[in-house]
Amino acid sequence: MIKERVRVEVFKDYYHNTVKFVMNKQYFSEHPKHVWIIAKYNDQWLLTQHKNRGIEFPGGKVELNESPEEAAKREVYEETGGLVEQLDFIGQYYVDGKGGDIVKNVYFAQVSHLEEKSHYYETEGPVLLDLIPEDVKSDSNYSFMMKDQVLKIAVQEVEKRSMRN
Ligand code: GTP
Repeated sequence: MIKERVRVEVFKDYYHNTVKFVMNKQYFSEHPKHVWIIAKYNDQWLLTQHKNRGIEFPGGKVELNESPEEAAKREVYEETGGLVEQLDFIGQYYVDGKGGDIVKNVYFAQVSHLEEKSHYYETEGPVLLDLIPEDVKSDSNYSFMMKDQVLKIAVQEVEKRSMRN
């Protein structure tokens, strides 16, 4: 059997933990326990205001008996009120965190409707942006999750795919 060559991007995150990113599904795990979703509503980026971490794209943990795709749709809804009409896989990453390893799937979600809700779990609800600031790494309003190369790779991929369509 010929094994597919996989391009693994390796870098340090905001906390100097090692991160490994691939565009392939199931490279680090067949059952990733976390998801992160680069979401768009109309032509704007759809993020959430996390109560402790600051502004970030929605995401969280995959629950028992849930697929990562189901978790991605649920997290977008819980944290922003957004209803996902299309979900596309982008990549998977591994973080060698101080408190243990995690594996996260990254998706692109096109949101068709933004419902106003009375609560948004650990967040204060949706944040819509025309542009993600260039200096997001040094902006304390933004979460650490927005401060490593995963964001750049994922956003570039979303933009590349949208130019094809
Ligand atoms: P809760 O259990 O939801 O309170 O979150 P937690 O931060 O305690 O645990 P989680 O398992 O979500 O994350 C553990 C650690 O992994 C974090 O403290 C980060 O250092 C790291 N981590 C989690 N998600 C990411 C991510 O998307 N990117 C990077 N670079 N690190 C992450």
